[in-house]
Amino acid sequence: MTSEIKAKNYQECFRKLEALLAGESDQIVIMASISSVLGQAFEHFYWTGFYRMLHGELVVGPYQGTPACLRISIGKGVCGTVAQTGVTEVVDDVHAFPGHIACDAASESEIVVPVKDSDSGKLLAVLDIDSTTKASFDEVDKKYLEMVITHFF
Ligand code: SME
Repeated sequence: MTSEIKAKNYQECFRKLEALLAGESDQIVIMASISSVLGQAFEHFYWTGFYRMLHGELVVGPYQGTPACLRISIGKGVCGTVAQTGVTEVVDDVHAFPGHIACDAASESEIVVPVKDSDSGKLLAVLDIDSTTKASFDEVDKKYLEMVITHFF
């Protein structure tokens, strides 16, 4: 997939979500809709969803894909690392990431974006997208996914 096609696809997702979520403020509704729209738009996204920050740990939230780990400790794996640092991680090869949690053996690369409340800056969740091919994610994914998250939370 070229960067141009990828960018167009993300722009289309953004438009769909804007229309779908106009006036909506419930976080679960927003997470479910983002998982659905993104998960359907990119064939190589085989797991697309959220882990919510609840009582000091990450707990699986709305997602599209195979059954996932239910709870992840802060600092563990890619999701736990992002919850700790508050910074997006793009991982080309999950097997090379120290402490990676293999919820599904098919996962080869992933991107995890922190979800922060726009008013308080508090971490609400992380968005996790997994791919079955190595190095699926780059600066284009990071730019658009961060834009979607910043816009809706
Ligand atoms: N790969 C993630 C775990 C979550 S699942 O793959 C859905 C991680 O290491 O944080």
